[in-house]
Amino acid sequence: MKIDNRNIESHLKEKRVFKPAKEFARKARIKNLAQYRRMYRESIRQPDKFWSREAKELSWQKRWRKVLEWKAPFAKWFIGGKLNLSANCLDRHLTTHRRNKAAILWEGEPGEKRTLTYQQLHREVCRFANVLKRNKIGKGRRVIIYLPTIPEAAIAMLACARIGAVHSVVFGGFSADSIRDRIHDSGAIALITADGSYRRGGIVPLKKNVDDALRGGTSVKRVIVFQRAHNEIHMEEGRDVWWHRELEYVDDNCPPAALDSEHPLYILYTSGSTGKPKGILHTTGGYLVGIYSTTKYVFDIRDEDIFWCTADVGWVTGHSYVVYGPLANGATTFMYEGAPNWPEPDRFWKIIEQNRINILYTAPTAIRAFIRWGDQWVKKHDLSSLRLLGTVGEPINPEAWIWYHKNIGGEHCPVVDTWWQTETGAIMITPLPGAIPTKPGSATLPFFGVDPAVVDPNGKEVGANVGGKLIIRGPWPSMLRTIYRDTERYKKQYWSEYKENYVTGDGARRDEDGYFWIVGRIDDVLNVAGHRLGTSEIESALVSHVRVAEAAVVGRPDELKGQSVVAFVTLKSGVDASNDLKGELRDHVGVHIGAIAKPDEVRFAEALPKTRSGKIMRRLLKEIASGAKVSGDTTTLEDFSVLTKLAEPEE
Ligand code: WTA
Repeated sequence: MKIDNRNIESHLKEKRVFKPAKEFARKARIKNLAQYRRMYRESIRQPDKFWSREAKELSWQKRWRKVLEWKAPFAKWFIGGKLNLSANCLDRHLTTHRRNKAAILWEGEPGEKRTLTYQQLHREVCRFANVLKRNKIGKGRRVIIYLPTIPEAAIAMLACARIGAVHSVVFGGFSADSIRDRIHDSGAIALITADGSYRRGGIVPLKKNVDDALRGGTSVKRVIVFQRAHNEIHMEEGRDVWWHRELEYVDDNCPPAALDSEHPLYILYTSGSTGKPKGILHTTGGYLVGIYSTTKYVFDIRDEDIFWCTADVGWVTGHSYVVYGPLANGATTFMYEGAPNWPEPDRFWKIIEQNRINILYTAPTAIRAFIRWGDQWVKKHDLSSLRLLGTVGEPINPEAWIWYHKNIGGEHCPVVDTWWQTETGAIMITPLPGAIPTKPGSATLPFFGVDPAVVDPNGKEVGANVGGKLIIRGPWPSMLRTIYRDTERYKKQYWSEYKENYVTGDGARRDEDGYFWIVGRIDDVLNVAGHRLGTSEIESALVSHVRVAEAAVVGRPDELKGQSVVAFVTLKSGVDASNDLKGELRDHVGVHIGAIAKPDEVRFAEALPKTRSGKIMRRLLKEIASGAKVSGDTTTLEDFSVLTKLAEPEE
């Protein structure tokens, strides 16, 4: 285990504490630390009691028999219960004043606006669910969704949930190869996409990527295409159908299927430290309870709020806090399709001003970009509607936290730094805005029912301010149930190191107040601009290039993106190293994975540092990439001359 001590050092200096504002706390659901502690204690000591109370606020077609069955590492929640997630996000609200309330407010990058009330969204979801049925997509079938952040993404997800089909959303920035891999792994029979989407004024050719992915045949028999950008596309006879045409054949009557609490809801692929992306499987009942109660308590969401989570629907944050969490709470969720700096760097602030957004939930990497673009873009706009700010995706440096608090929150909005993962489904470590004093850079304390710890390699809890591995003791409702079609990998990856404890892959320390400070990944997963990338995925993309012999990818600290990608590449004999080839390799990675995975720097090397047993010594490469002197243990290094060569500055 190697924890970055520099990071711990820098965070140790951070001593500022921000108490919840009295006005905020007075109205909040959880009003003070004592109330949080009381509820937390109950949630850990009597989880059944705590989670039943939460679950009872939702609608069940059949009540569960038992709250939890835990046969480590397999958990089942709300056993015997039957419910429907889309009914909880929609139908449940139709009998209340929320019927005519905005469920989704949306803005496209070119500027068009749409509003869908709960009643309207319900109707669209029912109709589209009938389109799915009409196309022989039934319960348990897998469906890939490759759409931009438009209301149809939410409609497609909710329609799948309504009939019990299992969706797997693929981020619109991923390439044809990535789509194909996910189709193969999930065995999807259908795919839902759009002709194109807008990004920085250009059109992303989504349908073309799909055509490339499906070339040569896959399990996908039907492609449903939403017309978004009106770009010219190919429609494959017998396979592709238009979304709007299909709607002509269906009515709006679609009762929600009564699904088992453990019925699979979605598979979302995410990077791991080895091999191809893992299909993280979430199920219905526990996931719903998790996202419902975190949205309720962490954002202290109110009926009158407009909640804006800026994540793309292709990431877990988009699943849990753009779509399911807010809608399960009957809130108004705001969706924006495009880039934060289009047409100018004040797009977010303009949106907040025009829509009177109340809660903003975004990523540290975006905040650092805003800082770089300059305060003048912020100052142009009235942000007084904001009452709460959140961050997610990577550690936030205290400076960025303070800037966010001051310039965006006007020093009166609490900032909730929320730690969680695709695997956890919902927020795990977080301030509760009316109750928990915040410290910039710390995700503070565990959410209800979550029992995290920082441990040494033997699984022993370490003392205050000592770095170690972050683990979660025992199950929680929204946890992943397995890795799709790879139960062995599920057991090995998350549960083999410390029995019955979930290994997060993150390093952390806990301070003298019990606050958690997340250091970042300690496995071979990079976090680039809040996006998870496995070094092994990028390496295998590089090695698939005809000229490449070997590749090792490491992360380098980056002021803006958190980490940047550095690739060390050895070429096949006879191949000349050139700048053109560097560009070619970057593009090659773009084609295989997607633009987000392109190495920021490609370095050619004659050889890579290896141990005598042939393992690449990444730690050394990390030090070299960040310009640090190689300091650690090199006794197992096979060929010392490699090191000297690598450390030589580039021409
Ligand atoms: C990192 C995103 C520090 C962490 C929801 C985790 C964070 C990975 C925070 C999961 C935070 C997420 N502070 N680090 N508040 N939130 N991370 O699966 O390394 O895309 O393991 O889920 O992001 O990324 P994922």
